[in-house]
Amino acid sequence: MAPTPLILPNNLPEETSPCPKVAKYLEEDDITQDCESLISTLAKDQGWVLSHLYQYQGFWHPSRQLEGVITCQRHFQARDTDIILTTSPKCGTTWLKALAYVVVNRKTNTPTIGATGNNKQNHPLVTNNPHELVPFLELKVYVDHQVPDLTQMPSPRLFSTHLPVDSLPLSIKETGCKVVYLGRDPKDAFISLWHFANKLRPPHGGKISLEEAFDKFCKGVSLCGPFWDHVLSYWNYSLDNPNTVFFLKYEDLKHQPKLHLKKLAEFWGCPFSLEEENNGVVDDILSLCSFEILSNFEVNKFGKLSSGEDNKAFFRKGQVGDSANYLTKEMIHKFDQISLTKFHLSGLNF
Ligand code: A3P
Repeated sequence: MAPTPLILPNNLPEETSPCPKVAKYLEEDDITQDCESLISTLAKDQGWVLSHLYQYQGFWHPSRQLEGVITCQRHFQARDTDIILTTSPKCGTTWLKALAYVVVNRKTNTPTIGATGNNKQNHPLVTNNPHELVPFLELKVYVDHQVPDLTQMPSPRLFSTHLPVDSLPLSIKETGCKVVYLGRDPKDAFISLWHFANKLRPPHGGKISLEEAFDKFCKGVSLCGPFWDHVLSYWNYSLDNPNTVFFLKYEDLKHQPKLHLKKLAEFWGCPFSLEEENNGVVDDILSLCSFEILSNFEVNKFGKLSSGEDNKAFFRKGQVGDSANYLTKEMIHKFDQISLTKFHLSGLNF
């Protein structure tokens, strides 16, 4: 198995990236004429972080992301050996990226970790946030009008996306590359998104209230929402394509991490050998990628993504059921009603 580092043309290591005056993710105007023309035809609504979200192919995106979506739909050529990690925002993307990167590259980067959290092998995860190691197609690889040459990347290439099934670049579906979807209980995903949005809002923008965010989320107006349609699109996609699409829930991964990590490794074509299992490799990987270890690496406490978000914004509690500490009984009832209606007869539940 070859390692899969991604060094994009304008992707300097975080430490040496020039510090932009305004974080890239807060920019709304730097889009091409092409994209601006498209945007003028789309439904728009008030955003959670930026002023607007635009509805494209049924789902909501900020303008900068939308441009990345269109560019990657036009240009991304999947290989059948690619591994694509797909999620709705705040469903455990960071965790899944860490796990995938470590599993796939474990022959070249041994995932051992000392009891103190110091990695003796200096694993790339110690100095890089998982979002830098496994880049988003629409938010990193094809953002800001760039169309990088990805043909020299060794296989298996690892990418991620928040795009729903119908918006995926066609080649992903045609090549039958390996797609993993990580879903999460809508209530916990919502609370996580609400916290995240408030961390990302510009300082002068104030906070978005829980009630306002709740109304928007239930209406489907959230980053890559409607949340329920997103998860359902992948649930159905996985039922139709069981050999190439793996559907997993954050809650199940938390509950039985070893079981699910072994299934993932098998699905990715790099199962753990008996010897590896006996040597504790699976446990080492889970430990290295655990919330406690990962969130305490310097890079994740103090670093930033090249788009400007603080890495620490991607780590909050990492627990199941935290939404119960925030939502009223009425809100929980409404969430459950929407889930019942949307998932009716699908076989999907959280
Ligand atoms: P909470 O806000 O509920 O704590 P994403 O990576 O898709 O942005 O999702 C972020 C959510 O995953 C946050 O949830 C975050 O704390 C949690 N998370 C991040 N790293 C994790 C890890 N290693 N293990 C479990 N959960 C993790």
